[in-house]
Amino acid sequence: MDEERLIALLIALHDGLPRQGPGDSASTRRALALCAALPDAPEILDIGCGTGAQTLTLAAATTGRITALDRSLDFLRSLRRTVIEGGWTSRVRLCQGDMRALPFREASFDLIWSEGAVYIMGFDAGLTQWRSWVKPGGYLAVSELSWFRSDRPAKLRAFLDVEYPALRSVAANLAAASEGGWQVVGHFPLPWSAWQAYYDPLRERLPVFRTAHAGDADAQTVADLTESEMALMARYAEDCGYAFYVLRRRD
Ligand SMILES: C[S@@+](CC[C@H](N)C(=O)[O-])C[C@H]1O[C@@H](n2cnc3c(N)ncnc32)[C@H](O)[C@@H]1O
Repeated sequence: MDEERLIALLIALHDGLPRQGPGDSASTRRALALCAALPDAPEILDIGCGTGAQTLTLAAATTGRITALDRSLDFLRSLRRTVIEGGWTSRVRLCQGDMRALPFREASFDLIWSEGAVYIMGFDAGLTQWRSWVKPGGYLAVSELSWFRSDRPAKLRAFLDVEYPALRSVAANLAAASEGGWQVVGHFPLPWSAWQAYYDPLRERLPVFRTAHAGDADAQTVADLTESEMALMARYAEDCGYAFYVLRRRD
């Protein structure tokens, strides 16, 4: 299956769900609280916003302006409805764009946020490239799948070596951030409840997706992989999971 087809199927599987990756409002707020030196009304860029669960948490928790960027028009349409219904239009603007080529002037943002999306271009590439769009002294908060232990279960390793070969330990990600010109302000693992916030609605969606795509081998493969991932992440939650990294631009 080519990449475009895989992306289209993943969007079909996830559209309309509250989240497209692990996370919850409490973790978003916890990471935001680490950005202690933000100005009163920060300019925030939320990269890979999806349908915007964290975008709205950021809007509610700050008085700043949030630019929510995603490649998927389907996700942005869902978010636009939520933004209008919630009365957020003056503070949340939507932008279709590619995280690898941000359509903004450099040093535009006090805070770049990205939950569950930096893996798309790679942790190191994201940290290196996005740094230019953060104002000096500004922040970057990203969540990224990370190994929590050095003793890695063979079954999980076999799956992740194929699905996410770039996966590293928390310590390795922190070292890379530091080498990339970031001061590490803080980091923490997402709790299992943040996975449930993502997986519970997804689990309900899967049979609907399978039925809607009956006879489509690619779609069934996507559903199979998703089910395998859910089972492995639940079983090995102590070994591997998402970590939030809160970094500050060092000049
Ligand atoms: C795993 S989802 C995370 C969504 C959301 N942040 C959340 O946690 O619910 C990754 C998001 O990145 C978006 N995305 C994928 N490739 C992208 C790209 N090249 N540029 C911008 N967004 C992209 C997807 O459309 C999707 O919304």
